[in-house]
Amino acid sequence: MSTLWSNIDWSIARSGGITAYILLTLAMFAGLMLSLRWQSPAKWPRLITNELHNFLSLLSLIFIVIHVLAVWIDPFTHFGLSAVFIPFVSGYRPLWVGMGIVALYLGIAVGISTWMRPKIGYRLWRRLHLLTFLGFIFALIHGIGSGSDSHSTWAIAMYAISMLIVGIPVAVRISGLGKTPQKKQAPLAQPRPAVKK
Ligand code: HEM
Repeated sequence: MSTLWSNIDWSIARSGGITAYILLTLAMFAGLMLSLRWQSPAKWPRLITNELHNFLSLLSLIFIVIHVLAVWIDPFTHFGLSAVFIPFVSGYRPLWVGMGIVALYLGIAVGISTWMRPKIGYRLWRRLHLLTFLGFIFALIHGIGSGSDSHSTWAIAMYAISMLIVGIPVAVRISGLGKTPQKKQAPLAQPRPAVKK
């Protein structure tokens, strides 16, 4: 295979990984906004919906597939099937790449739990959904550790901004500060006194 093709393939692998990571950050942000209920139709049009959260998650998964496929077919790094699917066995940055594989498996587990939500119930689904935070942290460490671009200013800025985008709502959530007050119940209509005729 020519060097030109290898360069193109490696660029696809890297840009695919970065796009997948940005989309994952946005999907996490949308999910956190939904769980914090930080929007009201009066102040902020309902831009962040469940559909948007699902769409961003799915789009991120599509770019992860592109990223992994491009890494796999790269002629110079010699990633075999086991190096792509079994964590920590690849010859290329095994620890950091392994973390990416674990992140992918956590994402798949969360996806399956969402698909099976009607069967497993809301409570278990919600607990399993917490795995997304672990997956995000693994993806972050994977990107920083294994990426060739991690030392460039734009990559440092991207990772820092993504940590803030996810970290701030998580901190608000944990502290309980961002809870929206319960809507006031409209007083029940009083029964009219019977009018004597
Ligand atoms: C949640 C899943 C994943 C995300 C979000 C992700 C994201 C990223 C990011 C952002 C980079 C840095 C790119 C750069 O700086 O140029 C990267 C690098 C890399 N990823 Fe992933 N990745 C994921 C899963 C995987 C998996 C499953 C593999 C399996 C082989 C993998 C293999 C690699 C390799 C080999 C690199 C190094 C590329 C380089 O040297 O620049 N990734 N990934």
